[in-house]
Amino acid sequence: MDKFIIDGGEKLYGKVRVHSAKNTVLPLLAASVLTDEQVKIHGVPAINDVENMLHILSEVGCVIKRQKDCAVIDSSNAVSHEIPTRLTKELRSSVFMLGSVLTRFRRAKISYPGGCDIGLRPIDLHLSGLKKLGVEIVEKDGYIHCSAERLQGAEILLDFPSVGATENIILAAVKAAGITVIRNAAKEPEISDLQRFLNAMGAKVRGAGGGTIVVEGVERLHGVDYTPIGDRIEAGTYLIAAASCGGEMEIEGVPAENIAALLHKLRENGCKIHTKNDKIELYSDGKLKSVNLVETMPFPGFPTDLQAQYSALSATAKGATLVVENLFETRYRYAAELKRMGADITVRGRAAFIRGVEKLHGASVTAGDLRGGAALVVAALRAEGQSSVMDLSHIDRGYAEFEGTLRNLGAKIKRVRI
Ligand code: UD1
Repeated sequence: MDKFIIDGGEKLYGKVRVHSAKNTVLPLLAASVLTDEQVKIHGVPAINDVENMLHILSEVGCVIKRQKDCAVIDSSNAVSHEIPTRLTKELRSSVFMLGSVLTRFRRAKISYPGGCDIGLRPIDLHLSGLKKLGVEIVEKDGYIHCSAERLQGAEILLDFPSVGATENIILAAVKAAGITVIRNAAKEPEISDLQRFLNAMGAKVRGAGGGTIVVEGVERLHGVDYTPIGDRIEAGTYLIAAASCGGEMEIEGVPAENIAALLHKLRENGCKIHTKNDKIELYSDGKLKSVNLVETMPFPGFPTDLQAQYSALSATAKGATLVVENLFETRYRYAAELKRMGADITVRGRAAFIRGVEKLHGASVTAGDLRGGAALVVAALRAEGQSSVMDLSHIDRGYAEFEGTLRNLGAKIKRVRI
């Protein structure tokens, strides 16, 4: 098990080019079984979630080649409709395989997926959407068995704009007979990227980015060579770190509109931010003032995946911040760890009240989930003295070359095997 040793207090200076977005690459990899031609995806981050997804693909019979930062998937010999249980438990995104495997084999078997322990994460919206497309679903012994003689386009109204459910339904509808209309669809940029990817394979999907997505089923999809969008959450994490520690940073690879909600808050905190095309420049003197309220919302609202990191920043901002988490139930496990570093945080249900303190001090803390782990790193970079961040398995699920990137920016961080 690895840990980070971080000597806090350094300002961060420099440039970061983000990787392709984890949350795009995962559904794209799942979508690669929709064709038996070759799919090449560029900028694929070397993170555990991606490696697990690639393992799932190879276990269903795909041949995977890694060429530098590209993944090349040949699923012409894919044979299995069973998504392997052990890997499914590791990775929630394995659930995307349902839509694409169903399209390919007309049946799919999967166990309930895992992922970060951030509260109840049901997949009822995925399943009810698939049912509308004609899929018969039987839940037995912890497995979900799906089958469909024929996938048939349908009108689907989501009770909540779930990112995963929207993506899964699109994947099941691309080759269905007729037209599927998804209303109250998620609007995240990753959905628009999935649409671009599928259309580059010959699909007919339109409306992504808005609340209504229309999928016209096509007979076949062909191979594709594709570069996904940059990771807005990775970008946001580095921006928050620089804002909190002070410094000057340029992020490349993410257009400002994809993280406008964060940039708006950081400006309110007192950071100077300039944006042009897919570049974001941030300057911070490290003396931030708090914003009154930050509430996580579906896109274009403040992303839940930046809530923890932003709370870490708020821990040393002057004044008080009320954080409200509207998407997940228990996304404050990191708060107890931040308190070990001297943060003043009170959590009640979905709300956290953070009173900014003058300084945090180094401590030994444990990362309990992916973004919570990143938040502890942000806090440790800002804290006085040395911190250990234990259990990096969660952070390694989502951040490629994390410590190397931070070191290039001037941070004193090293990985130690224990
Ligand atoms: C995706 C992201 C994740 C991000 C989240 C919200 C990927 C791989 N992961 O996760 O990083 O935190 O969006 O932006 O893209 N829900 C249901 N029933 C369902 C599905 C979801 O009740 O069938 C609920 C969830 O419990 C949660 C909310 O809807 O409260 C949002 O979940 P969803 O948008 O589906 O998130 P994910 O796709 O799992």
